[in-house]
Amino acid sequence: MTRPSRPPCGYTAADLAAYQIVPSTLSFDQSRLADELADAERAGADVLQWDVMDGAFVPNLTVGWDIIAACRPCTNAPFEAHLMIQEPGRYVTDFAKAGNERLIVHAEACVHLHRVLQQIRGEGLQAGVAINPGTPLGRVEHVLDLVDTLLIMTVNPGFGGQKFITTMLPKIRSAALLIAERELPVLIEVDGGISRDTIRTAYDAGARKFVAGTAIANHAQGKAAAIAELRAALPTE
Ligand code: DX5
Repeated sequence: MTRPSRPPCGYTAADLAAYQIVPSTLSFDQSRLADELADAERAGADVLQWDVMDGAFVPNLTVGWDIIAACRPCTNAPFEAHLMIQEPGRYVTDFAKAGNERLIVHAEACVHLHRVLQQIRGEGLQAGVAINPGTPLGRVEHVLDLVDTLLIMTVNPGFGGQKFITTMLPKIRSAALLIAERELPVLIEVDGGISRDTIRTAYDAGARKFVAGTAIANHAQGKAAAIAELRAALPTE
């Protein structure tokens, strides 16, 4: 199955009108990644997110580009890498070659954020920018023309299974207003504490991409039931 080619801005009009469920691979059984990825694709995942952590930007250490590249043939689902690493510009080419269609970097981790986003687009990939809970929206308003995804962290990054920080809702609303005012083809992604109890409030605030880790990986009836439950909490498309 060949994935539909995306316009340079990243999203089609249909994408912008819809929403996406994005399982995080962080909570998958790491000893069975190939099966877990194929299972998530069968379960209806729109995109699969790799949480890349360097033990410096965040207090945890996870996968690198080699694991992502090794897993690329296991599924046709699109990959995006959420780079929670210091100075990600050093590794853009490596993560591009690994088979990601989007790289998301943290504004707090880049001295030259604008240049790093250009670098990602220079590799022919989509670019995304992420901000931690303590970082104001203003930090990224001058680079939104370079990205197709604005990732607003709804937990402090580093671990799955944390509680959704509701005080991020006003930031999501302001971001949605700013994007609408400037008519930017950018989707707001939220990450952390997303579950059937929190996804609708995030949606109503303006989010359209929902990263979920434990809510999907630890669901008693499996990933398909988990994703169906999340979709059931949202308006029908
Ligand atoms: C945390 C990661 C998240 C995490 C989400 O730093 O960026 O993607 O895996 O896990 P849950 O959904 O369990 O909060």
